[in-house]
Amino acid sequence: MAKKATREQWGSKLGFILAAAGSAVGLGNIWKFPYVAGENGGAAFILIYLMCILVIALPVLLAEILIGRTTQRNPVGAFKQLSGKPFWVAVGGMGILAGFIILSFYAVVSGWSLGYIVEAATGKFYEFNQIGSSGAHFTDLTQNTLWNISYFAAFMILTMVIVYYGVQKGIERGSKIMMPLLFLILIVLMIRGLTLEGAEKGLDFIFNPDWSAITGKTILVALGQAFFTLSLGMGAMLTYGSYMSKKDNIPISAVEIIILDTLVALISGVVIFTAVFATGESPNVGPGLIFHTLPIVFTKMPGGLFFGVLFFILLSIAALTSAISLLEVVVAYFVDDKNWQRHRAVVIFGFFTFLLGIPSALSFNILADFKIFGLTFFDLMDYLSSNILLPLGGLLISVFVGWVWGLDNAIPNLKQGAENLFNKFPWMLDIWVVFIRYFAPILIFLVLLNALGII
Ligand code: PFF
Repeated sequence: MAKKATREQWGSKLGFILAAAGSAVGLGNIWKFPYVAGENGGAAFILIYLMCILVIALPVLLAEILIGRTTQRNPVGAFKQLSGKPFWVAVGGMGILAGFIILSFYAVVSGWSLGYIVEAATGKFYEFNQIGSSGAHFTDLTQNTLWNISYFAAFMILTMVIVYYGVQKGIERGSKIMMPLLFLILIVLMIRGLTLEGAEKGLDFIFNPDWSAITGKTILVALGQAFFTLSLGMGAMLTYGSYMSKKDNIPISAVEIIILDTLVALISGVVIFTAVFATGESPNVGPGLIFHTLPIVFTKMPGGLFFGVLFFILLSIAALTSAISLLEVVVAYFVDDKNWQRHRAVVIFGFFTFLLGIPSALSFNILADFKIFGLTFFDLMDYLSSNILLPLGGLLISVFVGWVWGLDNAIPNLKQGAENLFNKFPWMLDIWVVFIRYFAPILIFLVLLNALGII
């Protein structure tokens, strides 16, 4: 396979951090995290989630970025270079497949978010006065094939345009504009939430743990969420790491990405629960929290129209910076390993992703009764990728770095760019070794068994 003479790289370290944080921060933080926390007991769940992030997600994130930076390749190319064994190359291939599958349904939900910017701006939320009617409106919209598919297509086009322009001019430039905007909107919404009368009940819900709500299942859900939110297990961070310079410090970058991602999840929790409690709504309604409950919440708060629009812009930006990382994994493979032009890969795979997403979009209307293993096509894609492919990918990546490629190879590469850090704190390396070899694979294995219904 002919290799390209020059491969793109990030223009700056900040560019990498913002792009990687953009991949991490998405629907998982703003849509999923609050409702999962709400369903699993609030603060106690959040503490366990934070522990999972530190103990498992951080070591795996380091491993993924490390493989990418060392090989400067996409997931398939990276495993080919480090091992060459068909099994490990297939692990890279599984990541690319997962990227393709996740994007196909992720973009459907992201399309709803785009559509809700218009709903909010045209004052539609004011037509309902209770959750029932707001939920029914959501059902009407998702049952409307034209509405569903049009916003899904619009979102895919936005994603494709950014990836089309490449690593520096598309992804990095887009992230440098969108991520600061995202933080700004989040802070404005947080101030709005905190200044609502009755906000303290929401804060109490997220920061005052009720330990009795914790069960074995909570730990497993928290771990699954930690994986999804950090885009781990399918080579997105590996691919972004592959555009990183050998001079950059991987451990510090990984910690920065984690801090940004966690802050966004926690602040989103504050935004949503202060508003939900202040307006007397219920916190544990599940996935409908954002599309059923929040519209009502906005109509009940001063300045609700403005803040409603702002909220769905926030959600759409977060989704877009994640979607570009999903498409980039697929595109990078065809550019690196198949020598395709980036433009061609983007157009062809953007289009295929759209095709694969159509049955997901139709799962809320024409295909609602079409079930495979008892799940709609949308739910099946979600379950297959988030609960099986990602944890399995994470498990195999940690086994690969800890045991197959081996620490003798991994450690010198990890030290590159981080010499000062590891000279000062050599124990950090020892901790990483224990976590990547033992903790991460064993705990992820348990999550996987749980997802498959075995435990
Ligand atoms: N991390 C994203 C979120 O929290 O919404 C989802 C995601 C993006 C998962 C990219 C995996 C991925 F490769």
